Amino acid sequence: MLQTRLRRPAVTIGSAIAALAAGGLVALSFAGCGIVAPGPVDTTGEVDFDAPLAIPPLAESHLDADGTRVFALDAQAGSTEFAPGATSATWGFNGSFLGPTLVADRGERVRVDVTNSLDEATTVHWHGMHLPAAMDGGPHQMIEPGGSFSPEWVVDQPAATLWYHPHPHGETESHVTKGLAGMFLLHDEAERALGLPGAYGVDDIPVIVQDAGFSADGVREDAQRGYAGGLGDELLVNGTRGPFLEVGTELVRLRLLNASPARTYAFTWSDARPVELIATDGGLLEASVALDHVRLSPGERAEVLLRVAPGERVVLQSRMTAETAGLEPVVASMNGGADAFDVLEVRAADELAPAASVASKLAEITDFDEADVATTRTFELGDSFEINGEAMDMGRIDETVTVGTLERWVVENSNAVPHSFHVHDVQFRIASIDGEAPPPELAGWKDTIFTEPETTYELLMRFDDYADPGTPYMYHCHLLWHEDQGMMGQFAVVEPGQRATMSEGTHHEH
Ligand code: C2O
Ligand code: CU
Ligand code: CU
Repeated sequence: MLQTRLRRPAVTIGSAIAALAAGGLVALSFAGCGIVAPGPVDTTGEVDFDAPLAIPPLAESHLDADGTRVFALDAQAGSTEFAPGATSATWGFNGSFLGPTLVADRGERVRVDVTNSLDEATTVHWHGMHLPAAMDGGPHQMIEPGGSFSPEWVVDQPAATLWYHPHPHGETESHVTKGLAGMFLLHDEAERALGLPGAYGVDDIPVIVQDAGFSADGVREDAQRGYAGGLGDELLVNGTRGPFLEVGTELVRLRLLNASPARTYAFTWSDARPVELIATDGGLLEASVALDHVRLSPGERAEVLLRVAPGERVVLQSRMTAETAGLEPVVASMNGGADAFDVLEVRAADELAPAASVASKLAEITDFDEADVATTRTFELGDSFEINGEAMDMGRIDETVTVGTLERWVVENSNAVPHSFHVHDVQFRIASIDGEAPPPELAGWKDTIFTEPETTYELLMRFDDYADPGTPYMYHCHLLWHEDQGMMGQFAVVEPGQRATMSEGTHHEH
């Protein structure tokens, strides 16, 4: 199956862009793989908001004899009506599209019994979770059709909005866009003491944003492919097309997840009120930040607070511009970087329950001391879907990290197109962006960042446990098409002096 896929474009991304810019072409073919750069999309003011926002159910769990919280997820094929009477073939966990929301507490031991009822192999990866590599659900933990995987670990990180999705090498975009994705929420005592809205589906709302293409009668179609990957011209939120959300409290917490394969959003409110950001990928910020938009690339999350007045309506929108995307206008227009969408209409009831006051200090985030950095590594995101000039090889461990050390990863996007950069196992801090301190919205815990063209990001991360020289974790571009083409590498965490070598059975030949 790998042979039929594009391994290396005959035309590099940079040269294709240059050709487009020079010739004003809108279509161009990469070695047998048709790329049609989609034109700008603007759905603001055009969405009917006639469907109540679906709320993914909470995943059931039970405590087994030793106190482990046990969940069950079954990957299955099904069909979904995104428009009344129009049936689309989709995949989901324990249902036909997306999956239930898993919730656990810091300190709990959890296990997820994953089964695969599909007729293809897949995996389930716990994006943002600190856990042993063998439990990570990456491309080495394939679950064959009819097979199962029961990873378990102890939740050992702050309250956060994490998520789960498949990670089979070369097939991630396909499996995620068919519908395999869900949220994994972590809580802790410190977060509970803050008085934040916390009633799931009532004032604490999952908002899983995905773009999609639809036929005129509402059947899902393949999205158009820009250089970023497939870009749909409509949005689904939690699988709902044109969603509205009725709220009955003055204060609402929205957990935004960009589960789209390629599209980056700039979330904003229709009346231009500030977006009150309280948390990023790995947990709460020290204090909320008022922004005019929150930019999320694929894989990133943000928690925002919304204060509403009785009876009011306000629309969550996404308004990307070349400037918010950090892109040249021609590149922006071909990669969704000039698109605007209506996302979700929030309707406040005529009478609202009062909100508790939220503490102004949300969390304590201790900075890493750069003097402790044991190793500095560089990751160049270049042309041709490579990192440091190499495409992903399942049999090659690219980086070996010593457990118990602080590392500096310098990520350099030397491309004209945007990428994103995600690291498994850890939450990192951004030490600098082109030598400058990060803005407050990027100063907290992160596991995925949007990397603007010609920009260098310095990340600090600690690898505190789970040495396993034979099982690597992944780092990769989270634009899923890029990842599938090989924009990914592997690192192993080892004891001091140990060598990383792929263990038997985890190296899949292709
Ligand atoms: Cu969200 Cu390696 O993945
Ligand atoms: Cu991940
Ligand atoms: Cu990329």
